[in-house]
Amino acid sequence: MERLSHLFSPIRIRNVELVNRAVIPPMGTNLGRKDGTVSDALIAYIRRRAASGPGLIITEITAVHPTGSVINTELGIHDDRFIPGLKTLADTIHAGGAKAAIQLHHGGRECFFHLTKGRALGPSAIPSLIYGVAPKEMTLDDIHEIVTAFGVSAARAREAGFDIVEIHGAHGYLLCQFLSELSNQRQDEYGSSMKSRARFVVEVIREVRRNVGDDFPISLRLSIEESIKGGYTVEDMLTVVPDFVGAGVDIIHASLGTYGSPGGVTSAPVEYEPGFNAWRARKVKDVVNIPVIAVGRFSDPAFADEVIGRGDADMVSFGRQFLADPDFLNKARQGRAEEIRTCIACNQGCIERLMFEGKTIRCAINPETGQETTYPLPEQKSPKKVWIAGAGPAGLTAAYEASRLGHEVTVFEKDDVVGGQIRYAGMPPFKDVYLKWIHWLENQAVKGGAKIRTGEPLTREMLASERPDAVIVATGGEKMVPPIEGIDLPHVCDAWQILSGEVSPGRSVLIIGGGLIGMEVADFLCGKAPAVTVVEALPTSPVSKLTSHGYMLHRRLRQGGCSLIFGITVTRITPDSVRLCTADEERELSPVDQVVVAVGLTPRQELKAILEELCIPFTLVGDAAEPRRIIEATEEGARAAWDL
Ligand SMILES: Cc1cc2nc3c(=O)[nH]c(=O)nc-3n(C[C@H](O)[C@H](O)[C@H](O)COP(=O)(O)OP(=O)(O)OC[C@H]3O[C@@H](n4cnc5c(N)ncnc54)[C@H](O)[C@@H]3O)c2cc1C
Ligand SMILES: Cc1cc2nc3c(=O)[nH]c(=O)nc-3n(C[C@H](O)[C@H](O)[C@H](O)COP(=O)(O)O)c2cc1C
Repeated sequence: MERLSHLFSPIRIRNVELVNRAVIPPMGTNLGRKDGTVSDALIAYIRRRAASGPGLIITEITAVHPTGSVINTELGIHDDRFIPGLKTLADTIHAGGAKAAIQLHHGGRECFFHLTKGRALGPSAIPSLIYGVAPKEMTLDDIHEIVTAFGVSAARAREAGFDIVEIHGAHGYLLCQFLSELSNQRQDEYGSSMKSRARFVVEVIREVRRNVGDDFPISLRLSIEESIKGGYTVEDMLTVVPDFVGAGVDIIHASLGTYGSPGGVTSAPVEYEPGFNAWRARKVKDVVNIPVIAVGRFSDPAFADEVIGRGDADMVSFGRQFLADPDFLNKARQGRAEEIRTCIACNQGCIERLMFEGKTIRCAINPETGQETTYPLPEQKSPKKVWIAGAGPAGLTAAYEASRLGHEVTVFEKDDVVGGQIRYAGMPPFKDVYLKWIHWLENQAVKGGAKIRTGEPLTREMLASERPDAVIVATGGEKMVPPIEGIDLPHVCDAWQILSGEVSPGRSVLIIGGGLIGMEVADFLCGKAPAVTVVEALPTSPVSKLTSHGYMLHRRLRQGGCSLIFGITVTRITPDSVRLCTADEERELSPVDQVVVAVGLTPRQELKAILEELCIPFTLVGDAAEPRRIIEATEEGARAAWDL
């Protein structure tokens, strides 16, 4: 029997046959040009994914009207001048064997730069939860204009060669704003009841159908649940889904969440289990007789196959998994599942980089993503003897990339095992996927030809006697020890000793440092130690609640009864208490029977001076350059290998 026969079976929707049921859902990339046209970088990004054999690729949000774009590089389809670029995009998808869909979008009140200029539109003049600025309430003429824009844009999509259009009715954008009572308080026929709030969506669907003709499939992406306090529920949505089908929709893409949903549930963090949202797709399937796409933390093709097999969905979207490993479907097809690089749902390189940093798409664990035009292929250059110090994320990524490019690579790791900080980062709740990733990376580097020598620090003597052609210094950071009276007492330990199990949790634990490491240790200790307090010198938390991981951490610590105190320094540690100091008072906290130091790292750079003295070319990467995050470690490790 064919492997994964449900996932890899074809499906027909109107006149379009998909070769299989694996879908790449729309994902904004920021790779568009400033004028909203398609760039070479976007084509290269799509080409790489089209080659991996999904049945359907739905390209990212594309503005149907000049007032509808949420960022200035958002692709446009509101004018004929966009058609040639979009045609190249559709052709690129077809060349890989998939069918091409485009997502038609209007951002409504979430278009920040239109909001600031007073041009943003919304069903009611209710401020965006994120930006705090209200849009202009749409008049009936505005409504008519936007409905028409969706229709004309759909016709352009067809002209550009797309096989399907997807109407974006989800995630808090204009159509979703109409559906939600939180953003739609209109008193006319477009407001009040769920049925009336759905009218705008119904009109958009009808207009799109009128423009594309009877044979052309239309997908509707919906947040089946708004996932926010006071938002619409699954039951509310199920009352109107049949109306959407009646208006001409052929596929429901069953997503969830809106702007401001706690913890970024739309691109859910690791706390949500794979396929956590599939039950909502099932609910939709129970009320309609058209194909439904499930989405949400799918990364394992075998699991997606199971979900389709048991009838919960007809197709499955793999979003971030296609960023982490565009080859994963082929690996599954060929029985090489163990080679799949599984998404760790950290959101660092993808959604949060786009939303909070305004940068182009990347992936924290796949340095090729978003850099397809410059990603180097193995050349016939003469291989170099490359030594790498440190087998954490930076060193192992450098090893994988350098050996892939044909260099002769040896990694020296001073500890007996590889992984660097990930050995500890993978210990708190839900983070075992980080351990899985680092083992994957180790295996791939070795498979690619890199030699890894554990228990062997790279030293001056080794460098002087064997003189490699180049060295990549990925030695990470050194733990900082704050100069506090009592820091040497026996009940004081550090975060790493707790996470590794070397030191057992105390009863009343005080953690010095409320950065990521301190918060992670607190998370690890919640439920193990009866009382956990984190003190941080900064006035506010260095771990932003805007990121999904930060939000989940703060929530878990609050629910776990852990107390976080900001704007406070520890000035003295005694055997059963600590002295805390704020700008205006000093006080004693007791009892404290364990103090855990988590004040961070300083770059470990002792090899730098040695390499300079020996005149051996080198690059400092990752935490060894400056302690930061995984994405910087992998990015710099890869770049050092590419630049050899
Ligand atoms: C508890 C915890 C949780 C974290 N959670 C996250 C998170 O959720 N997201 C995130 O982005 N980041 C997180 N981090 C930070 C992240 O782990 C680091 O940024 C990342 O590991 C840095 O990678 P690196 O390869 O530069 O350094 P490291 O991971 O520190 O690896 C350096 C390696 O070099 C070795 N070494 C040192 N000197 C020598 C020498 N002379 N010769 C040979 N080997 C040597 C070390 O033993 C080590 O194995 C966390 C860190 C901790 C401790
Ligand atoms: C970088 C990024 C950009 C996204 N852009 C869009 C988009 O343009 N339109 C959309 O409907 N959803 C968008 N999403 C949501 C995804 O389509 C998908 O629903 C979500 O990531 C959950 O799927 P996953 O867990 O498989 O990643 C985006 C997600 C990411 C990570």
